[in-house]
Amino acid sequence: MPLTFAIVAGARPNFMKVAPLLRAFDQKAPKDAAALLIHTGQHYDAAMSEDFFRDLGIRQPDVNLRVGSGSHAEQTARVMLAFEPVCIERRPDWVIVVGDVNSTLACSLVAKKLGIAVAHVEAGLRSGDRTMPEEINRICTDAISDLLFTTDELASDNLLREGIPAERIRFVGNTMIDTLVRHLDQALATPLPEGVLQGEYAVVTLHRPANVDDPERLSNILHALEAVASRIPLVFPAHPRTQKNLERFDLADRLIRSNALRLMPPMGYVQFIGLVARSRFVLTDSGGIQEETTYLGVPCLTMRSNTERPITCRIGTNMLVGSDPDKIRNAAFAALNGRSGGGSTPAKWDGHAAERIVDALLAWRP
Ligand code: UD1
Repeated sequence: MPLTFAIVAGARPNFMKVAPLLRAFDQKAPKDAAALLIHTGQHYDAAMSEDFFRDLGIRQPDVNLRVGSGSHAEQTARVMLAFEPVCIERRPDWVIVVGDVNSTLACSLVAKKLGIAVAHVEAGLRSGDRTMPEEINRICTDAISDLLFTTDELASDNLLREGIPAERIRFVGNTMIDTLVRHLDQALATPLPEGVLQGEYAVVTLHRPANVDDPERLSNILHALEAVASRIPLVFPAHPRTQKNLERFDLADRLIRSNALRLMPPMGYVQFIGLVARSRFVLTDSGGIQEETTYLGVPCLTMRSNTERPITCRIGTNMLVGSDPDKIRNAAFAALNGRSGGGSTPAKWDGHAAERIVDALLAWRP
């Protein structure tokens, strides 16, 4: 029987993970196997979705569920309602989910309850913080997945501790780094935003609900960033959630007035990687950027008090600075004086993770 794999992508950080998987399927899967690409539509703005498909050379999705934004329950439920008939009609042998967004959990639940095998790419990451929606998505997805692909051995250890049998866990490396390796030369050839010079600016990204949904917390973080911006230009491509909140809390004008902090719309993948790779350091609350900066050797100051990616602190360039404005400012000043960075690349972050995943899926016998 020919195999059918349904590969799910929903939100911006998923697209870098599915691009190398689709390519590896094209190269390795038998000719009669089918890889369906399902876009849940969790992210739908061109800058959050289409631009990434174009930059990463991802083909048009076979199915777009067009669920859009909503509360967690609404969004998760809408993905489930829309995905179930697709599974019933297409009967994939595997549903492959990546990362930790609401679409990841929603599609694994639907598949598993229909008796379809689930593979989770980027399994086993744990921040230990159950107030984070992504942590709930990770724990629940891993608990029901049949094959769990990890980016590092700390993640595999987390799964073993939670009672997942070792034969279901495969330490394969990092598909996000596959994409980075593939596009790095192209990224380094993109022009930098006007007025900033290589190595003489820092990059800011901020979108976690914990940092941007509370006006006081967001305002405090902005104060710290303004202090940093008095010493080095900060380029700040803002996520739509952040942009909306800056306006809602009347903070946008203040930022636009401050000269050095350069607020701009979200960037495409290649341009953004080019920006990060040539920066002095990065201030972020993203998960994936902690990994990309580790690979690139760029110091990363993470504005969170925990991380599900501790390998990036242990051997990479990442440092947790929390959301306290004094700590953020002091860490950034230290980075400016060259007192952070260095680090090395975790094992198997070598551009070939997706190939290992496809090999494991094709070899799997339940
Ligand atoms: C989601 C993921 C998060 C990931 C982030 C990357 C969950 C629980 N969270 O958070 O893990 O780090 O994506 O971006 O799945 N919006 C737009 N246009 C879009 C998408 C969103 O304007 O294309 C706005 C809407 O106001 C929406 C808000 O952003 O309500 C939040 O979007 P949502 O998908 O709920 O979560 P993210 O914050 O993007």
